[in-house]
Amino acid sequence: MERLNIDRIAFLGRTYAEYLKIFGFDENALAKGPVLDCPAGASSFAAEANESGFDVTACDILYDQQVEELVRKGNEDIQHVFDEFDKVSHLYTWNYYRDKVEVIRQRRAALERFAARFAEGREKERYVSGALPHLPFPDRSFSLVLSGHLLFLYGDRLDPEFHRKSLLELARVGDEVRIFPLVGLDSKTYPELHETISFLRSKGIEAEMVDTGFEFQSGATQMLRLKNNASR
Ligand SMILES: C[S@@+](CC[C@H](N)C(=O)[O-])C[C@H]1O[C@@H](n2cnc3c(N)ncnc32)[C@H](O)[C@@H]1O
Repeated sequence: MERLNIDRIAFLGRTYAEYLKIFGFDENALAKGPVLDCPAGASSFAAEANESGFDVTACDILYDQQVEELVRKGNEDIQHVFDEFDKVSHLYTWNYYRDKVEVIRQRRAALERFAARFAEGREKERYVSGALPHLPFPDRSFSLVLSGHLLFLYGDRLDPEFHRKSLLELARVGDEVRIFPLVGLDSKTYPELHETISFLRSKGIEAEMVDTGFEFQSGATQMLRLKNNASR
């Protein structure tokens, strides 16, 4: 089967500008209340948003490590992903990025900006170590939760139960959750997507697929939006 053939869950990250496009929101949504990015990886979203005065927390399974180790891993993972990329570049669409060189430049820029803020951010509990499906936050701590490039994307190695538990957990800590993409490393829709949506609805969570206007993996233009309607 044709897919981006990577041997690990990559410690990569996108920039603030990429997040706005990927998750289809603007700064008004950030101003509404605390935001969680999980898993945030080497994204510079939290660093850039916090520099602009917004209230963003980043959480990742690797945030118990030292910044030097995260930068080493981040650079190694960019290398690994983009070494493999050429074999499947036809699975991607060049609307948002001009070419592979630009994508790599953005990933490196995110890693650099993330690293510059990590030590200080961890002291201020802006960067929190945590592993799905159990997050270290009280119920409804965030008005918006963003979860990019883990669930569904790595559906070849994370099982359906992990997905169900993780989605319930993200919905537990936030009023609204946005998850992107809904495809795997083969750029095909996650096979259990509809069963997963039915499961969430059966738990009282509003779940719908929404167009984002962003496309990189060809055809991956939608996110999943969850709303936790339980009263506070
Ligand atoms: C590709 S990065 C996504 C980063 C960012 N959200 C983005 O879209 O650019 C995937 C991240 O998931 C993290 N991760 C893997 N398993 C996890 C888990 N069980 N809980 C929290 N983070 C996890 C990895 O450490 C990695 O940083």
